Amino acid sequence: MSTFVVEGGTGPLRGRLRVPGDKSISHRALLLAALAEGSSRLSGLSTGEDVTATAAAVTAMGAQIEGDVVRGGRRRLHEPEGVLDVGNSGTSIRLLAGFCAALPWLSVLQGDASIARRPMDRVVEPLRRMGAIVDGRHGGRLPPLVVRGGGLGGIDLDLEVPSAQVKGAVLLAGLAAAGETVVRERVRTRAHSEEMLAACGADIEVSVDGLTTTVRPSELAPFELDVPGDPSQAAFWLVAGCVVPGSEITVERVYVGPGRAAFLDVLRRMGADLEIEPTSPTTATVTARHSPGLRGTTIGGGEVPSLIDEIPVLAVAAAVADGPTEVRDAAELRVKESDRVATTVALLAALGAASEPRPDGLVVAGGSRLTAGAVHSAGDHRIAMAAAVGALVAPGATRIAGWGAVRTSYPRFQEDLRRLLAGGAP
Ligand code: S3P
Repeated sequence: MSTFVVEGGTGPLRGRLRVPGDKSISHRALLLAALAEGSSRLSGLSTGEDVTATAAAVTAMGAQIEGDVVRGGRRRLHEPEGVLDVGNSGTSIRLLAGFCAALPWLSVLQGDASIARRPMDRVVEPLRRMGAIVDGRHGGRLPPLVVRGGGLGGIDLDLEVPSAQVKGAVLLAGLAAAGETVVRERVRTRAHSEEMLAACGADIEVSVDGLTTTVRPSELAPFELDVPGDPSQAAFWLVAGCVVPGSEITVERVYVGPGRAAFLDVLRRMGADLEIEPTSPTTATVTARHSPGLRGTTIGGGEVPSLIDEIPVLAVAAAVADGPTEVRDAAELRVKESDRVATTVALLAALGAASEPRPDGLVVAGGSRLTAGAVHSAGDHRIAMAAAVGALVAPGATRIAGWGAVRTSYPRFQEDLRRLLAGGAP
């Protein structure tokens, strides 16, 4: 297990950078390119292990990936010879469950110890209703999953858990299901599946309020995509820019489309000095400057699915802000790569900041002066990186054990941090 030692209080972070390609978009790009008949060109994919796992899975089913080119199509795809190993990636296992449900063969999906604890019934139940034979441990509630696909029919699904992964899985299955597949959401979640399916020529409609998506059996056309930067990774630098005295950090070409940019609204509510310059309908260049007067806020309701992955690093901002911050309606935090209520509270405590867990979130006391400490990532990339951001304002050496977890989404985080620190050096 690797340990990263961060020296806090050593100076500002300054500079411009690009973060890795968006992870959610990268997974979907690979899956859609594998289904599309012909050659797609994908650049800027996330370099993290999660996306590599999806690439390996589609390769095991016959897609060919050479550099930026993915050759796919149903005629090329075949039953995988071995187990599809998703590593630490919840998005891979859930989206692949839907992808495999549409294909007339047996697929076995498994991952690491964290994946083995993550709930799968949310995706298994709708896929069973569509006619796939799906099983897993505990009656299909936990991985590994065994999927015998094919022969599907459309369903009308009311999504109880707001989850873009479940929506994506059901829409992927719907591409090969007789009749119509309708997914109804109560709260908007990230819209990548529907945006990208439409761009590949799928027969898909989204209601004006964005809450109801209907897909019919479709062949996909190959496509070209330069994946925009991942807002969830940009969030680490933007929070660092706000909390480290003297900092100014610009992140270029960040995806800010539906369901992804709510953390920017929260930072603004907290009084952050942010500049957001749109560069296309769904991307922006975002600059964060040191914001000494951050104030606590309340995070809850419909905005939660749009910032669920950013809560650990927002909690770091909340720890140094004046007044408490309450995060509620976020019980999903408990079933992420780690129990992120527990691991966020533990990371704040290790840095000398008070917070309290709640069943559906946490309350961060605020007004803390962070102090260096020892943090464990608990195998969770976002906890490791949020800890690194907090450590920057905690004078002394903070040791982050289990740092290797960042490889799942941001392998060059340390290099980018070094560059930004060098940019701020006198
Ligand atoms: C994702 C959706 C979210 C998010 C995850 C990626 C996606 O999960 O937390 O990191 O790409 O669809 P849920 O669908 O479980 O909310």
